[in-house]
Amino acid sequence: MSASNAFTTRLPQGRDPVLRVMPMPADANIHGDVFGGWIMAQVDIAGSVLAARRAAGRVATVAVNAFQFKQPVFVGDLLSFYAAITKTGTTSVTVSVEVYAERHRLDAEVVKVTEATLTYVATDEARRSRPLPAL
Ligand SMILES: CC(C)(COP(=O)(O)OP(=O)(O)OC[C@H]1O[C@@H](n2cnc3c(N)ncnc32)[C@H](O)[C@@H]1OP(=O)(O)O)[C@@H](O)C(=O)NCCC(=O)NCCS
Repeated sequence: MSASNAFTTRLPQGRDPVLRVMPMPADANIHGDVFGGWIMAQVDIAGSVLAARRAAGRVATVAVNAFQFKQPVFVGDLLSFYAAITKTGTTSVTVSVEVYAERHRLDAEVVKVTEATLTYVATDEARRSRPLPAL
């Protein structure tokens, strides 16, 4: 996808973000843009919200299946993380996370910056995997 196609005019409609956060200067890399590792940590947190809800308790991240940085993130962008469960197994929950940035607070340009898929495992107090509860 070309950079121009990545721009949208608004955030996804009819969906609530699981997380919204604004990166600060301390989250920047040596070039002044936001460090990819910081974004990965936020995506992990965002995905875990739905996974922990489905697991009705503690989860651990077992795999990052895919992760794409589609556009850079800048200090001061308002980031919205949208998550959806794409698969469940005996103990695991796979979640897709999409991240949108609202840039320049005044003209409110919206850009999809990141897409990722992560798998979480429901764990018990001893950190062993446990079956997901029945729905
Ligand atoms: C999570 C953990 C307890 C799972 O251990 P386990 O039960 O022996 O692992 P299993 O191989 O039986 O896999 C458990 C589930 O994870 C899934 N899974 C394992 N590896 C996977 C991978 N690379 N990608 C996708 N799913 C994976 C399995 O398919 C299985 O799912 P299911 O029960 O729904 O069929 C263990 O791997 C662990 O402690 N990992 C570290 C977790 C952690 O600390 N994460 C934070 C970052 S350090």
